[in-house]
Amino acid sequence: MVLLNHCGNESSMNDLQRVNHSLEQLANIGVDITPAVYARFFAACPPAESLFGTAEARAVQGKMVNELVQTILDRLGEKPYSPVVVETMVSDHDSWGATLPMYDAFLAAFVDTLEETLGEEASPATMTVWRRELASLREQIAGNLA
Ligand code: HEM
Repeated sequence: MVLLNHCGNESSMNDLQRVNHSLEQLANIGVDITPAVYARFFAACPPAESLFGTAEARAVQGKMVNELVQTILDRLGEKPYSPVVVETMVSDHDSWGATLPMYDAFLAAFVDTLEETLGEEASPATMTVWRRELASLREQIAGNLA
């Protein structure tokens, strides 16, 4: 979490600050979005649900959402290890049967749930940053699947 060097003026924030600010707003709302993300994910992509049939797989659902958020923060912070983390994640997920349409559904479920939960507090410019970063992550995932 970065300290914001602004005084509530969102237009002066850079992309990383915007994303962090939206996560702070979410924390203030005090809702764990994990169940809503998975409900949306499985409704959009029923075959993905069967991959979460075991208690172990269900137990990592929150971890998956957290890891996605951390990956976006690392990319915006230009952390050098970020591409390797994605490569390893994709190769682990290959063995569990995750496909590109499943990634698309998961990423869309995440950002749509985030926007819905933030409601009127969602800043359109910040949601554009989220969607752009997720689209760029999706391209990297697709490249690693190929
Ligand atoms: C960028 C997107 C994703 C990220 C960052 C991510 C991250 C993770 C992480 C961190 C774990 C926990 C690994 C562990 O500690 O054991 C995990 C597990 C899992 N993920 Fe994902 N995931 C993503 C997308 C997906 C998608 C699209 C699917 C497809 C259905 C999927 C299916 C699974 C399953 C089934 C497990 C549990 C495997 C097991 O332990 O049996 N993930 N994921």
